[in-house]
Amino acid sequence: MRLGVCYYPEHWPEDRWETDAQRMSALGLKVVRIGEFAWSKIQPSPDKYHWDWLDKAIETLHKHGLGVILGTPTATPPKWLVDRMPDMLALDEHGRPRKFGSRRHYCFSHKGYRTECRRIVTMLAKRYGNNPAVVMWQTDNEFGCHNTVESYSPAAVQGFRDWLKHRYKTIDAVNVAWGTVFWSQHYQSFEEVDAPAATVTEANPSHRLDYQRFLSDQVASFNREQIDIIRAHSPDREITHNFMGKFTSFDHHKVGRDLDLATWDSYPLGFLELSDVSDLRKKEWMRQGHPDFQAFHHDLYRGCSKKWGVMEQQPGPVNWAPYNPAPLPGMVRLWSLEAIAHGADLLSWFRWRQAPFAQEQMHAGLLRSDNMPAPAYEEAAQVANDLKAIKEQKTHKADVALLFDYEGQWTHDIQPQGKGLDLYKQAFEAYSALRQLALSIDIVSPKADLLSYKFIVVPGLPILSPELIDALKTTSAQVVLLPRTGSKSYTFHIPEGLPPYGLQSELGLKVVRVESLRPNIRETGDLLGTHLNVVNWREHLELDPDNQPDRVANYANGKPLWVCRKHLHYIAGWLDETSLVTVLADLAKRAGIARRPLGSNIRFRQLGELEFAFNYGLQATTIDVHVPDKVQFVLGNHQLKPAGVSAWIKSTAL
Ligand code: GAL
Repeated sequence: MRLGVCYYPEHWPEDRWETDAQRMSALGLKVVRIGEFAWSKIQPSPDKYHWDWLDKAIETLHKHGLGVILGTPTATPPKWLVDRMPDMLALDEHGRPRKFGSRRHYCFSHKGYRTECRRIVTMLAKRYGNNPAVVMWQTDNEFGCHNTVESYSPAAVQGFRDWLKHRYKTIDAVNVAWGTVFWSQHYQSFEEVDAPAATVTEANPSHRLDYQRFLSDQVASFNREQIDIIRAHSPDREITHNFMGKFTSFDHHKVGRDLDLATWDSYPLGFLELSDVSDLRKKEWMRQGHPDFQAFHHDLYRGCSKKWGVMEQQPGPVNWAPYNPAPLPGMVRLWSLEAIAHGADLLSWFRWRQAPFAQEQMHAGLLRSDNMPAPAYEEAAQVANDLKAIKEQKTHKADVALLFDYEGQWTHDIQPQGKGLDLYKQAFEAYSALRQLALSIDIVSPKADLLSYKFIVVPGLPILSPELIDALKTTSAQVVLLPRTGSKSYTFHIPEGLPPYGLQSELGLKVVRVESLRPNIRETGDLLGTHLNVVNWREHLELDPDNQPDRVANYANGKPLWVCRKHLHYIAGWLDETSLVTVLADLAKRAGIARRPLGSNIRFRQLGELEFAFNYGLQATTIDVHVPDKVQFVLGNHQLKPAGVSAWIKSTAL
């Protein structure tokens, strides 16, 4: 487990680098990420290279025992390059260029830009690949940030036609897959196919899904090109890319498979402000963040690669959310320890010192722009100290698997059938309910090995592969399918035999009608006397008269809400938070893993032989009822102040 920081030596006078490195080292940091936006500083014009400053920065950090994570600078192509090939810019759906002057102004499909990226990455990898200071590489920076996966440029359209040819072989196969007989959309050749943009009303959903698959593949191949170069010239160094929170435009499982570790950028307060939680909760959590947002992404990205970490951890107010409050004292430590409790291999704060100029001058760092410590500095020092008590722990498989996949998210995005309803929201709400039940969770791709799990939660995954269907049928775990599971085919059609595709006969049911509900509408159900609330989405089931499943809960009108056959459960409605906790608690009991619920602000996480508790609330609390008297605490105790963290050696009696 390494602590680190993001640093921009090019932003500061050289005579400050030495003391910066000294202070980083004294703080307990081990690695420093640099260089990811420095292309024009390295190559200010086509035939001029300035390596001296970077050589010196790397050497200075190394001298103080710090390992360097070197970023490839391809997120910020310099002005001279854009002027040479203006068509490298991405075009938005109305054909407008995404221009120079900030960052990420490139189209993933532009072949000339790809060549330039390979060139600069090769130069960097050759120059620093064997440098003992360089311990890790980061490809580019935040693929897709500022909506940059999408491009509708001529290069992208050409790439898409090639992608279609490769996948479908004949245009007739495309016509069938997309159902182009509808609205006279028939194509005679691949050359006639355009990007699904700027159409009069919605474009064909199968076309859109394939376009998103194509765009996602472009990100994966852009990343892989850099990885291949780095691996050739920089043996034994790890390679990462920093993913983002709540970002689903490309398949992170696919990109993550090529990395040694998946990292992500965790900004709890900024993300809370951008989220759709109620204003009341935004007010309550404004200085702590949502208790599950960070954890969800830790578990999601842990499931994307061999290892994982946090590349950018929020240190204070950010500059990019609608409102940018300061964290509660102790929260920077808590967020960092939550990452550690999820088995992070790297935890790095963004950034070392606040920049007094340019776009992010209102973004805090560990140091203020006058070089004095900001409040997070002391908390970073505490984390370095906490690590000594925690020692090395191994993450192990959780008992609960929550499935998530990106194609599923795109399918919901393309036809939400109800405002704001998507797979991510379903998955996140299920995750949050499971955390309220004190469970540790693995979020895994539907392709993952599900064998060892005791409880599998499938949050409305529309497209089910034959392998997954098989795994769900044969597992000995309890499996719960939330609404919309198995509701589409691979080519975005309603499946033959109706949903849930592949599992209808196993469950003895079909979903014969679905409806989305207005925000204030609540349908009620009954679970052996306990009231259940259905919001957002309701499904109508037809049960097989010869092969009826058990009814566990019904709607008020007697229609089935929760049915089950053996270990398979189907829920025919979107449950509100309390009802979801009730239902998942019942299922956890059936799976033999039930624990005492924690309420809305306390969270637990198991890591190796340790269990952690975190207080995201504004009130002090005790965990007496959850944790036996005699456990051995390694951090804190039974009392949890706001922003408090405790960790103890987990007794088997729990
Ligand atoms: C991230 C990005 C950083 C910085 C940071 C500010 O999205 O990777 O470069 O902009 O946000 O919070």
